Formats: sequence, C-alpha cells, structure tokens
Amino acid sequence: MKEEITAAQMLDAFKQDAPGHVADTRWAHTHGLGVLGHFVASRVAGDFCIAEPFQGRSIPVTARFSNGSSDPVRHDERPDTRGLAVKFHLADAVDHDLLSMTLSVFGSTTRKDFLGVAKAFVPKPVQPESWLRQHVLDPLMLRSPPPPLPASVTISGGPGLAQYAGSHPFVRAFTIEAGLSQVPVSWARTEYHAVHTFIAVAPDGERRPVRFSWQPVDGVFPVPADQIAAKATDFLTAEMRARLARAPAQFTLKMAIGDPGDALNDPSQSWPVTRRSIDMGTLFIDRLAEERDVDVDRLSFNPMRLPAGLEASGDEILRARGEIYQLGCKERQGIGCPLHAHDGSAR
Ligand code: HEM
Repeated sequence: MKEEITAAQMLDAFKQDAPGHVADTRWAHTHGLGVLGHFVASRVAGDFCIAEPFQGRSIPVTARFSNGSSDPVRHDERPDTRGLAVKFHLADAVDHDLLSMTLSVFGSTTRKDFLGVAKAFVPKPVQPESWLRQHVLDPLMLRSPPPPLPASVTISGGPGLAQYAGSHPFVRAFTIEAGLSQVPVSWARTEYHAVHTFIAVAPDGERRPVRFSWQPVDGVFPVPADQIAAKATDFLTAEMRARLARAPAQFTLKMAIGDPGDALNDPSQSWPVTRRSIDMGTLFIDRLAEERDVDVDRLSFNPMRLPAGLEASGDEILRARGEIYQLGCKERQGIGCPLHAHDGSAR
C-alpha cells in the first residue's frame, strides 16, 4: 500500500531551510502588512459562480501583503516572492480565504515531489555550472556565467533548486520565475496568482475548472535595477501607508477558465494565456489594519477555507496546504486556525 506523506512531514521539510526564523512567527511570508478593505463583484461574476463573494453585495475583507521569506526582518529591497492573502468575511461569520503569490506556478505536483524540492533548498555546496543555470537562467538574465565558485561554498535556496531543476522538469518553470523575481515599487503594483485550480459552480449547475489572479489596477511596475540600492529596507510599508492616505489601492480579480486537457491537479504547469478570462470583481484596499487594531500578524489564512460554490480540485498540494497552514498556525498560536472557524476573530 502506498504510504501517505503527512502534512506534518511536509511542514518539517519546509522548516529545514527557513533562514532567520523566529519562534511564534509564520514559517513563510513572515514579514507582512495587514490591511482592510472590501470586494465588489462584477456584473457578470454571478453568472459563473454561485459563491457568496460573487453575488454583488460589498464584502468586507481583511488582507495581508507579505514578502515570501521566513526572515521576520524586513527586506523589501530584495527580490522575493511576494504574497497577497485575502479573507472575505461572509454572512454568518464564515470566512473565505484566497491566497496568492507573485509566481504563477508552484514547484511541485505531489507531496512526494515537495519533499524532494524542500531538500534541494537546504544549504549545501553548489555547482554553479548546473545545466539550468548555463542554458536558461544566465541567458534569460542577460548575464555572463559567473566565475566558478570554490567547491566548498554553501548556499541555501535558489542554487540548490536550480541544480535540482536540471533533472526534475516539473520544477523548472517555478525556478525560472523565482529567479526572475523583481522588487515592485509597491505591493499594489504587482500581479498575484492563486496558482491552484478550483472548481467554480455556476447557477445552472455547470462546474468549471478555474484559476484566479489579482491584477493591480494601477499596473505592474518594478523598481528599476539602478534604483534598488537607494530603497529602504521597509519601503513597501511606508509606500502603502502613503498610498492609502491618498486613495484605496485596487486589484481586479481575474478568473481563467480551463479547457479540456489543461492541467487541473498540477500547480507546476501554467495554462495557455489564450484561455477565457472573466473579470470577477474589484478589491479595494482602504486602510491599514493597525488603524482599527486588527492583529493580522496572528491571523490564520488557509487556501482550503472555501465558500459553498467554490471547491478544491484534486490538486494534492492544495489539499496538503489546508493541513500545513492549520498546523503552522496552531504552532505560532495564531487566531482563527480551524477551517471554517465561526469565532468571528479578527473582523
Ligand atoms: C506545499 C507547498 C507550500 C507550503 C508547504 C507552504 C507553506 C507555508 C507556511 C508554513 C506558511 C505560514 C502559514 C501560517 O503560519 O499561517 C505559508 C504562508 C503563505 N503561503 Fe505558502 N506554502 C506552500 C505553497 C504556497 C503557494 C502555492 C502559494 C501561493 C498560491 C503560497 C502562498 C502563501 C502566502 C500568501 C502565505 C502568507 C499568508 C499570510 O499572510 O498569512 N504558498 N506558506
């Protein structure tokens, strides 16, 4: 019988490379900023999904922008995978969470793959002449291959992954996108992708495979490379404070609809950009959470906290994340950890 890899094993593997982690903080996306706002569905959203956020009522939200690193010290000026976690507060104190990141794919298909990838991340001596680096990353970054490193050099994260990607194709798209990560001028000037496939149930009962992304209404804008050195280490928080004092930050929620043959259970594969895409509504980020004393740092977001009418696909990674985030949240004594908690916390 096939032995199931548990969420606890996956979380343990994840912890093996969490630079700078401090007890009682998140194991990933540790530095972030809590914000409050509302979501307004588009006129057509309800034709494609019966879930409550898409019925037209303005839905209050609590959200958190974050940097992907496990280091609680702010490093806004470094290239990183940024996150946007949105909690829709629905009727009867039920919440729906939509978690997204700046990469459009993930680096594993199965729980087993994930353990291999996590191991590749652990600090180890690197071989800078890896296939992926020479043939893909260096040409894409328009840079000459760096001089060989001495054999004893130990680096965590990217280099180990690039080496691993040479022999594991499923992790290549993720590695390349991660390697090309930039520094956005604002958490409100970058796209975020929920990555996994969900099933949207329509009013006529039709069940469509869908993928969600947030597009910034003000457009995507990275910091020009020659200006990064002048950026303060916490500039994204200062920028958001100044931005929200002027006007709400806005994102459009796009929902791509999969065609037959598209990868439904595999978050390592993207869908063709030619897929139908529905504008499902607009997220308005109105104010910083601290203005209302909402402790978003302790709050739990969980990608399996779904409303009626929006279901998880068979994606193993998505389902494992449901358990992993619950475990991680309990460990750090977060609030609102159990799925579908009716405790109304952090509203
Ligand atoms: C097996 C794959 C993954 C693992 C093991 C993992 C692990 C984690 C952990 C342990 C946390 C901290 C949770 C907490 O303490 O509440 C976290 C946070 C987060 N993850 Fe993942 N993650 C995975 C995949 C992803 C993917 C595919 C995305 C994007 C779609 C993502 C986006 C985020 C975001 C945005 C947060 C911060 C949520 C917040 O602000 O509270 N993760 N992740």
